[in-house]
Amino acid sequence: MPTPPAINVSRLTKSYGLIRAVDDISFQVKTGELVGFLGPNGAGKSTTMRILTTYLPASSGYAWVAGFDVMYQSMEVRERVGYLPESVPLYPEMRVSEYLAYRAKLKGVPRAGRTARLDDIMARCRVKEVRSRLLGTLSKGYRQRVGLADALVADPPVLILDEPTSGLDPIQIAQTLETIRELAGRHTVLLSTHILPEVERVCERVVIINKGRIRFDDTLKSIAEREPVLQVEVRGPADAVTRFLADQPEVATVAPAGHGGGELTAFDIRTRDRKDLREALAGRLAAKGWGVRRLDLKRASLEEVYTSVVLRQDEATAPEPEPVPAA
Ligand SMILES: Nc1ncnc2c1ncn2[C@@H]1O[C@H](COP(=O)(O)OP(=O)(O)OP(=O)(O)O)[C@@H](O)[C@H]1O
Ligand SMILES: [Mg+2]
Repeated sequence: MPTPPAINVSRLTKSYGLIRAVDDISFQVKTGELVGFLGPNGAGKSTTMRILTTYLPASSGYAWVAGFDVMYQSMEVRERVGYLPESVPLYPEMRVSEYLAYRAKLKGVPRAGRTARLDDIMARCRVKEVRSRLLGTLSKGYRQRVGLADALVADPPVLILDEPTSGLDPIQIAQTLETIRELAGRHTVLLSTHILPEVERVCERVVIINKGRIRFDDTLKSIAEREPVLQVEVRGPADAVTRFLADQPEVATVAPAGHGGGELTAFDIRTRDRKDLREALAGRLAAKGWGVRRLDLKRASLEEVYTSVVLRQDEATAPEPEPVPAA
């Protein structure tokens, strides 16, 4: 029998009064997968994560985490999920080591190995140097690290991390990402962030949510395998240049991409067989006596996918412009 997905979301909806923060979303995360959960501010990421960790009831739909229903089996889910919330709630009057020991006990970490476990997790989350500090006096980055240590302390199979690198300095970001990457395989991780290069560094797959709906769900590998676009800007008669480009045997499609003034025209070219035509094309255009002002090979990136998914959606829902009254 195939293993069920570690996270399974089906037609989940959450409304706050009239605001539909999460609108009929479905997605799955396989056991051991590390998935980036992306979307602009207010998209519905934290709301989804709160539902998955049982801290918020859904309005409708279903979600199972580690095989348990978040609504009806919330204790079982909580025992199997490590959650780093968006703003880490800490007891200000407790010391770091005291707090983590308390959390470990609460989460059922066996007494025998507890001290060793705490030592290991404090080292991995780099909070040892502040172990005796009061939580209320920690800087934002250290609070975040204690939050991560809390999420990991009981070694849960599923981790739901809401912006785990927010507030960290660049070196800590790199180290935290490394820690998260090491978790993949043994743990299933759903991670939200606004920093796309972070996702490219650690995640295998991305799910993009915007305005409460899933807009994209695919692997980074398949994004990287998308056809690159050759962007050229040529000085020459637009019609003749278009025909010439389209006639090249390696060229699959030619799309105009704007005029630069005078006889300057930009084109987006897709080639057959993912060929890098740059040098050959520069030579052939020069032989025709046309100037090449720009010639770039643009590979598909997560940033492009993200921007096009989010902007396309914003344009689709933008209000119609007011009609201009006739004079
Ligand atoms: N407790 C609440 N009451 C009313 N509306 C809420 C509440 N929490 C969130 N919302 C609204 O739900 C929508 C989704 O919010 P959510 O916090 O899930 O977004 P997000 O994707 O996590 O955004 P960010 O990137 O800013 O963290 C927003 O419109 C937000 O204003
Ligand atoms: Mg959020």
